[in-house]
Amino acid sequence: MKRIKIIGTGSYLPEKVLTNDDLTKMVDTSDEWITQRTGIKERHIASQEEATSDLGVKAARRCFETFDIDPKSIDCIIFGTVTPDKLFPSTAIYVQKALNLPNIPAFDISAACSGFIYGLAIANGIINSTSMKRALVLGGETLSKVTNWNDRSTCVLFGDGVGCAVVEESHDQSGLLSIYIGADGNMENLLHQPAGGSRNPATFETVEKKLHTIHMEGNEVYKYAVNTMQMAAEKALSMANISSEDIKWFVPHQANIRIIDTTAKYLKVPKEKVFVNIDKTANTSAGSIPIALDQMNRDGLLKKGDIILIDAFGAGFTWGASVIRW
Ligand code: UT7
Repeated sequence: MKRIKIIGTGSYLPEKVLTNDDLTKMVDTSDEWITQRTGIKERHIASQEEATSDLGVKAARRCFETFDIDPKSIDCIIFGTVTPDKLFPSTAIYVQKALNLPNIPAFDISAACSGFIYGLAIANGIINSTSMKRALVLGGETLSKVTNWNDRSTCVLFGDGVGCAVVEESHDQSGLLSIYIGADGNMENLLHQPAGGSRNPATFETVEKKLHTIHMEGNEVYKYAVNTMQMAAEKALSMANISSEDIKWFVPHQANIRIIDTTAKYLKVPKEKVFVNIDKTANTSAGSIPIALDQMNRDGLLKKGDIILIDAFGAGFTWGASVIRW
């Protein structure tokens, strides 16, 4: 088996920032409630003209420029998102078009918040089983486009943004030491967008009932998120034969600071090793982990040889975790 490694990261958050105080003018909420229950202070919101692929293209260009990667060397584009530009074709197709990379395969993965880790797993498979050498893996969303801005139980939680990584075969000790992904469809109705697909095609009634927006039973999702993120992290650690004491950075999906703290405590990872940016980004679903990795990379927090644990959980339910030697 070839081991793949991340050779560059990128991210893009839209310019507009919506604070908790801004939200208090839209729904019956408070900065105190949002901060205490979630850890979120503000989130970025895409403009009307900005689609998910537009954020992805900016993230990819930043990655290519910063890490001196020739875009023409990319053999494949994989985009984890549940807020595609259109139902079809894929969002990755629009990235391919904008980056002018004709003929290479480009496709989306629908695995919600676990989309980036699913993307890494698929890139690993592709690099191991085809002649393709380099993949651009993106993850991210414009969740603001499917948010019910009258529903205080969901509208305070999400933000827009895309992150990405370029991966290729590793020729040294660095790379993905393990990658674990899973899913359980039995609780699909706890977090979903009810209309717009073939089950419930768009009608005047579905639009009127706001069925094209995020519906979530937050309390129930919370319980599964805590248990599953612990389980996934343990699995990835044991597959890599790494103890949690060896972790330099724990980079969890940023859905709720209480979920992050509980998972870290269970894994016995001290607070100073846990990367948190939920206060500034809110929950960007598939964007969460690649945006975090890129911010850490740019801030010089990731040093060669560091052991990093990434861990995600999302709608489906889906989950994924990976141990990476940087
Ligand atoms: O990324 C994919 C996975 N997603 C997640 O992991 C999200 C998991 N869930 C959560 O993070 C939490 O369940 C939430 C942050 C969504 C909610 O926190 P909670 O502590 O579970 O609150 P709750 O839903 O039990 O609501 C408590 C109270 C309710 O009022 P009553 O019934 O006690 O009077 C809500 O109506 O808080 C009320 N509430 C709010 N109050 C002010 C709900 N949303 C708000 C709000 N502002 N925005």
